[in-house]
Amino acid sequence: MVSGGESGWLAEPDSAVHRALRTELLAARERRAGAEVRVLDVGGGSGAWAVPMAAEGCRVTVVDASPNALAALGGRVREAGVEDLVSAVQGDVQTLTDVVGESAADLVLCHGLLEVVDDVGAAVAQLAAATVPGGAVSALVAGRHAAALAQAHAGRLAQARAVLADPAGRSGPHDPLQRRLSMAALQGLLESAAGLSVELVQGDGVFEGWLPAAVLESDPGGPDGLEELESIVAATPELLVLAARLHVIARRPGALG
Ligand SMILES: C[S@@+](CC[C@H](N)C(=O)[O-])C[C@H]1O[C@@H](n2cnc3c(N)ncnc32)[C@H](O)[C@@H]1O
Repeated sequence: MVSGGESGWLAEPDSAVHRALRTELLAARERRAGAEVRVLDVGGGSGAWAVPMAAEGCRVTVVDASPNALAALGGRVREAGVEDLVSAVQGDVQTLTDVVGESAADLVLCHGLLEVVDDVGAAVAQLAAATVPGGAVSALVAGRHAAALAQAHAGRLAQARAVLADPAGRSGPHDPLQRRLSMAALQGLLESAAGLSVELVQGDGVFEGWLPAAVLESDPGGPDGLEELESIVAATPELLVLAARLHVIARRPGALG
């Protein structure tokens, strides 16, 4: 259960995203006066975020378009022994409130989702509507500028140019993602299309793909060193925009629910 945030999954791994979610869950628990915090994980897949959150005592609903992902979620839920706290619903984010209703959750996750949906404006509007007034949306999205740098680093200069020139930030017609976002675009989307108020922006994986494996392998303190480094740059404005994934906590205005 989330208490002082000292133990459990929310403290380990100790990434900036985990820290932000821990803060958000503690605040939601306080608002709920001890009642279960309601989490909606949209595009939650096989439960990488949902299952540990349930293990922390949250009541989690996973909405995902893929029956295969939901089947995998079922296995993970049983393995973790959190069947009573996790519900799985097949559905599309673009019609989310048809399946979960309005103001359904204190915290709504959309991690790895906005880059794969058809109508991203409709998606964020639905995410906001499913959030209780005063609650928060946590968005984790593939970063456009990191992708351009990664393509150039791999010697694919045409693809790097395409990621920068294409309004959707795609490297070409075979790009598996529908879009990548800059931090400014992500913020603009959540504020203008969803009416949310962005409270926190941070980078997840600024150094991802840049450090030679040998650096980590040869240094026993390497992983910790990297975690510490990432934790510094996650909040460094000049660098966070270059992260592999961009993370935002955005609040739905209104009375605290
Ligand atoms: C990259 S996975 C992310 C999984 C998980 N959120 C995570 O961070 O590990 C994207 C998930 O979104 C789901 N998805 C794709 N389009 C969707 C849509 N329109 N509505 C709901 N889920 C969707 C996919 O089935 C997949 O499980």
